[in-house]
Amino acid sequence: MRQAAMMPLTAFVVAGLSLSAGICQASQEYENNVELLQRKLTLQNFKPHVLLFVADCMGWAGLGSHRTAENSAEAQGKAETQTPILDNLIRDGVLLERHYTGSSSIPSRQSLISGRLPREFAAPMAGVSNPTTFWNPEDNISGFFGVPRNMTGIGSKLKQAGYATHYVGKWAAGHATPEQTPFGRGFDSFLGYLGAENDYWSKQGDAEEFIRSICVEKFQDFSLYNATYRGGVDDTIAAELGCEERLKGKSFNKHGCNEEDPDDCLPDGCHEESMLLEYAMRLIKNHDSSKPLFLTYSSHLVHVPYEFTASASKLEADIQKSVKESGIKEKLPWTSPRKGTAVSLASMDSIMGRLVEALKEHGMFEDTLVVFISDNGGSVQVRSGANNYPLKSGKFSEWEGGVRTNAFISGGFIPARHRGSSFHGVIHIADWYATLCSLAGVSHVDDVSAKANELLRLQGRPLLGEVEGRPQLQNIFSGINGRPDALHLSSSSLLKWPYKLVTGQQKYSFWPGPVFPNCSSDGPDDAPLDVYTHFFSFENESARLEKDMVEDCGNGCLFNVEIDPSERWDLSSHTDHNAVLSSLQAELKLMNSKAFKADIGHSRVQACLQSFRQGGFVGPFVDVGDFYTTHQVAGEEETEMYRQELMQLQARLRDEEFLNETAREMYEKMGSLSDELGCFD
Ligand SMILES: *[C@@H]1O[C@H](CO)[C@@H](O)[C@H](O)[C@H]1NC(C)=O
Ligand SMILES: *[C@@H]1O[C@H](CO)[C@@H](O)[C@H](O)[C@H]1NC(C)=O
Ligand SMILES: *[C@@H]1O[C@H](CO)[C@@H](O)[C@H](O)[C@H]1NC(C)=O
Ligand SMILES: *[C@@H]1O[C@H](CO)[C@@H](O)[C@H](O)[C@H]1NC(C)=O
Ligand SMILES: *[C@@H]1O[C@H](CO)[C@@H](O)[C@H](O)[C@H]1NC(C)=O
Ligand SMILES: *[C@@H]1O[C@H](CO)[C@@H](O)[C@H](O)[C@H]1NC(C)=O
Repeated sequence: MRQAAMMPLTAFVVAGLSLSAGICQASQEYENNVELLQRKLTLQNFKPHVLLFVADCMGWAGLGSHRTAENSAEAQGKAETQTPILDNLIRDGVLLERHYTGSSSIPSRQSLISGRLPREFAAPMAGVSNPTTFWNPEDNISGFFGVPRNMTGIGSKLKQAGYATHYVGKWAAGHATPEQTPFGRGFDSFLGYLGAENDYWSKQGDAEEFIRSICVEKFQDFSLYNATYRGGVDDTIAAELGCEERLKGKSFNKHGCNEEDPDDCLPDGCHEESMLLEYAMRLIKNHDSSKPLFLTYSSHLVHVPYEFTASASKLEADIQKSVKESGIKEKLPWTSPRKGTAVSLASMDSIMGRLVEALKEHGMFEDTLVVFISDNGGSVQVRSGANNYPLKSGKFSEWEGGVRTNAFISGGFIPARHRGSSFHGVIHIADWYATLCSLAGVSHVDDVSAKANELLRLQGRPLLGEVEGRPQLQNIFSGINGRPDALHLSSSSLLKWPYKLVTGQQKYSFWPGPVFPNCSSDGPDDAPLDVYTHFFSFENESARLEKDMVEDCGNGCLFNVEIDPSERWDLSSHTDHNAVLSSLQAELKLMNSKAFKADIGHSRVQACLQSFRQGGFVGPFVDVGDFYTTHQVAGEEETEMYRQELMQLQARLRDEEFLNETAREMYEKMGSLSDELGCFD
C-alpha cells in the first residue's frame, strides 16, 4: 500500500463532514459506513489509482452479466457472450445499471473529457461524418471540431491532484489545436488515434468503405505524445511496441497484408489493440507506485472493422465450445457480424484481464478504482452486429439501446460491503469528470473556460458551458439517485426519472432479439455514402425511412423506463400522463434553447498539409507552434507537390458529376446485406 500521511481524528471528522455536505440522508448512510471511515482515518489524503476502461460501442447484451438463459434463444445468446473477467469484476464491484451517454461516440467522449453535457459542443454537422479537418479561423476559442480549446480536461484536473496521467487508445474529442489533444488535456502521455475510428492494421484514419474524406483516409491516425516526443508512431516506435515489421515503403491493405502479395501479412504485434495493450502494460510496470496513477484505456474494441490477431481464433473456438456445451438443441447459425462482435467482446474481456493482472503483479490493484463504461450503445446496423437486447434499438438513436450503456466500478478500492451490489441511480458519462475530481480532492470548477467567457461575452459570441457533471461515488455507496431532475440527453430526448421523452425521427426503431443478427435479420442496413462530406443515398426518401426503420415521435413519445425499460408502451396519449408529457416537453425546449451553437467552419487543406509534413500522420494543424518534435518530415518540394494535388481535388469537388461518379463507385463496392451476413453453421 502506498504511504499516506496520518491525520488527527479531528481533522478527519471535518473532512468527513465536508464530504457528505449537501445530502442529509447520504451523510447518515455515509457515516454508517464504518469501513470507509476506517480507511479514511488511516489514509487521509489517500488517492486511489484509477483505471478508466472505455469500451467502444459495446451493446447492452454484450456483457455476460446482462444475459439470462431462460429459453433456448437466450441460452444461445448467453453462450456466445463470453466476458468472464468483466463478470468477475462486477461480482467484486458495483454494477451501474443506469449509466447514460450520448447516442454516438463523439458527444459521449467530449462529455467524458470535459464534464459537460453534449449540448455544450457544436453538434457534428448534419451529413458530415468526419469533421476533424474543420476550422473557422474567425473563432479562436470554439471554431474547431471537438471540445473547445479553452476548457480544462480531466487529465489536467487529476494531474493537478498529483496523479500520473496516461491516455491510451481512441480519443475522438477534437485535435485541430494542440490544446485539444490528450496532451493538451493534461495527459502526460498518449498512444492512440485522434479520430473516431481507424483500421487495426493499417491505422489509416478512415476504416469505413463508405466514407471518402479529402485527406484523412490517406494518413495513419496513430500517434505518441509524451514529454519528449510528439508525432506519429514511426517504425522505430512501432518496433519498441512489439511491431517489428518495417512498415515504411510497403503498402498494406486494410487487413494488414501486402497489396502486392496477399500472403505477406503483418505479425500480431502490429495489430493496433496489441500495441495499445503493450504500451499500457509498460506504463503499469514502470509506474512509481508512490504516486497515484490515472490510466484511461480507451479500447478500439468492440468497434468495427472486425480484424483480429491469430490468437483470436482460440477465442472463437472457445465460444463455439461454450455454445456446444450449453446443449442448446435448435441453434441459430452464426452470422458474420455476430461472430465478429462475439470475438471482439471476448478479446476485450481478455485485455481487461491482462490489465488487472498487471496491476496485481505490481501491488497496485488493492488501491485501484476500476471504472468500466461504454461510450454508447451497440450498433445494430446489421453490418456491425452488436446487440442491446432487451433494450430497443442502438447507436445513433435516442432509444435506450443507444444511450443506456454497460458500466460498473470495481477494484480493491471498493469497500467489501458494497461488492456484488447494483446501483440504480442515474449517472451520465459527464459525471465521471466531477466524480474523479472529488475522489482526487480537486475542484471540478473550470476557471479556464470562465476566463475565456469574459472575452466571448465582450465579442458577443456563445459562452462556454460549465461543468455539469456531478460527483457520484458517494451516491453510489449510499444508494441515492444523484440525478432525480431533468437530464438533457440530446436535443431530441430528456430523462426525468422515471420518465423519458423521445422526440422526432429515430432510426433503427426495432427490438433486436437475444440472437442478433441472425440469418433472418433483414435490416437495418444503413450505410449512407459520405463522399467528401456530401451525403449520397441511392434510395428515395420513403425507401430510406423504411430501410433505416425510422419511427417518428413528433413532439414526443413518453416512457416510464423504470417499469418499461424496453420502451414498448408509449404513454404520450394517456390522459393521465398529459401533465408529465407537457412538463418534459417544456424542459426539453428550454434546454435546447441553451445549446451551444458555435460555427466550426469547413474542411481545410491545412489539416492535410500538416499531416503530410509530419510524415503521413493525423494530428493538430492550427497554432501548432513547437508542438511536434518531428518538425518537418516531408520536404518543402514534396509538400508543394501534394498541395497542388489537393488543390486539383478541391476544384473537382465542385463538379457534381465527379461526386456522383465517385459515389456510384463506392456504392458498387459495398457488399449486399446477405453477403455481409454470411450465414455459417
Ligand atoms: C487568434 O489567435 C492568434 C494567436 O494564436 C492571433 O494572432 C489572432 O489574432 C487570433 N484571431 C482571432 C480572430 O482572435
Ligand atoms: C517518449 O517516447 C519516446 C518514443 O517511444 C521514448 O523514446 C521516450 O523515452 C519517451 N519519453 C518519455 C519522457 O517517456
Ligand atoms: C484560449 O486558449 C488559448 C490556448 O491555450 C490561449 O492562448 C488563449 O489565451 C485563451 N483565450 C482566453 C480568452 O482565455
Ligand atoms: C433474429 O433477428 C430478428 C431481427 O432481425 C429478431 O426479431 C429475432 O428476435 C431474432 N431471433 C432471435 C432468436 O434472437
Ligand atoms: C421509392 O423506391 C422504392 C423502391 O426502391 C419504390 O418501390 C417506390 O415506388 C419509390 N417511391 C417513390 C415515391 O418514388
Ligand atoms: C447527381 O446525382 C443527383 C442525385 O443523385 C442528381 O439529382 C444530379 O442530377 C446528378 N448530377 C449530375 C451532373 O449527374
